[in-house]
Amino acid sequence: MSAKTTAKSYFITTSIPYINGEPHIGHTYELLAADVLARYARSHGQDVLLSTGTDEHGGKIQEKAKQSGKPVKEYADEISKKWRELGPLVNMSTDRFIRTTDPGHEQRAALIWQALQADIYKGKYSGWYCTGCEAFVPEATAKENNGVCPIHERAYDKIEEENYFFKLSKYSAEITAKIMDGSFRVIPDTRRNEVLHVLKEGLEDISISRPKDKISWGVPVPGDDTQIMYVWFEALMNYITVLGYPEHADFKKFWPANVQIVGKDISRFHAAIWPGMLLGLKLPLPKMLYVHGFINFGGQKISKSLGNVVHPREVVDKYGVDALRYYLLRHTPSYEDGDFTWKRFEAAYNNELANELGNAVSRAAAMITKYQNGLIGDIAKPEHDSAQYHKEIADCRFDRALEEVWQQVRGLNQYIEEEKPWVIAAGGDMGHVGEVLAYIVSCLLEIAEMLSPFMPATSDKITAMFDSGVLQKTEGTLFPKHEDPAKV
Ligand code: MSP
Repeated sequence: MSAKTTAKSYFITTSIPYINGEPHIGHTYELLAADVLARYARSHGQDVLLSTGTDEHGGKIQEKAKQSGKPVKEYADEISKKWRELGPLVNMSTDRFIRTTDPGHEQRAALIWQALQADIYKGKYSGWYCTGCEAFVPEATAKENNGVCPIHERAYDKIEEENYFFKLSKYSAEITAKIMDGSFRVIPDTRRNEVLHVLKEGLEDISISRPKDKISWGVPVPGDDTQIMYVWFEALMNYITVLGYPEHADFKKFWPANVQIVGKDISRFHAAIWPGMLLGLKLPLPKMLYVHGFINFGGQKISKSLGNVVHPREVVDKYGVDALRYYLLRHTPSYEDGDFTWKRFEAAYNNELANELGNAVSRAAAMITKYQNGLIGDIAKPEHDSAQYHKEIADCRFDRALEEVWQQVRGLNQYIEEEKPWVIAAGGDMGHVGEVLAYIVSCLLEIAEMLSPFMPATSDKITAMFDSGVLQKTEGTLFPKHEDPAKV
């Protein structure tokens, strides 16, 4: 019998977007960040599960469906489909797409509620609620904002109702300890500090249900048909219902998640409430929470009312999917907010993709054809130190990881300029030309390998061109230049 090695499991999640609107370029960032980690882990032999999905319950969705004039499930099916299509559009290697309206999720959510029973009690909530945020708003925040949510520009609802509470307060110390000792790593530090600050004040118990007569679109509270689960409480559960909590082998294999990725506006839910729920379930916390920033458009928030919504399809259709992946991952600071404008995008496309990467590839191919009839010869592995690149990926610094790759791209172009294979060829030393070209190819193959989690199609193309030892012709150039001027 041969020895069997089991690959290490690696579970990555994105947040699950609401279906009250359609995806835009900003939402794409999170999917791509998750995809890079998934592809990278797979290429290192890990057994990866990448999950994403849609968050479909709550008052906000119920309202939207009503406005559309459709039954709410029909509305949900339609919009969820648009989100499901986003992944394949940007070449995201999703393994599982969960909808919170999946019967499996709903049934398992009820099991989770029951498993948390010891931490749940009935109480009276008297205070503010923002349907846009789907959040209970503390008195002090409501006061600070003069009763109007600054994000959704709508007045908070004053509610007074009986509902269920979760004893989150009892977990503040344990969550803090796990963040401090690094067993629950929150990155970047700015976000970690914000969370620690909130925890230091002490978490309050949270309301986790709503009366059915006010919001009917949700998962029923087990044993009480007058209440439905508060949408956030229920949506967070997707991270384990997607694995088949509690009994499925996948749950045993993949939990705790290696990395959970969310935007800065929802870090509190993921760094405080979700860990509290997990501790209540006596489950380990995720190993890491990566909190990314927001993509703006020309310095402004992306919003329908500002009319600056760019759908990723617009970029993909014109420039190809890898150009979009490259721009978002390289030109969004991984630990801060990023900015998209067509001008900035096109500058990056023309200068970095067409001129730097594209040129290195096409010059190498042209010289191999001209001087060696397409034969490449022995390819030795170059001796570049890639430790920094790997460290940046481990820290979710995708911008810096790509900068590391680009140093090699630039280094290679400089090498070609300095070595001048055409001058060597003119002098007749074809043996030396062969060595130089083989070295250039080995650098390109190394670059292709480093690019593969970021720009998988480009990486495959470069590899296919050179790795057999005989140049394989491909159609067209990698990144044809676009001359028509950018809009903004
Ligand atoms: N439904 C909740 C998440 C529940 S997770 C259990 C939600 N949905 S959302 O649609 O509002 O946001 C989904 C993700 O997209 C969040 O991580 C959010 O931060 C992110 N983004 C929304 N707008 C964005 C940008 N402009 N730029 C980058 N990410 C953005 O919150």
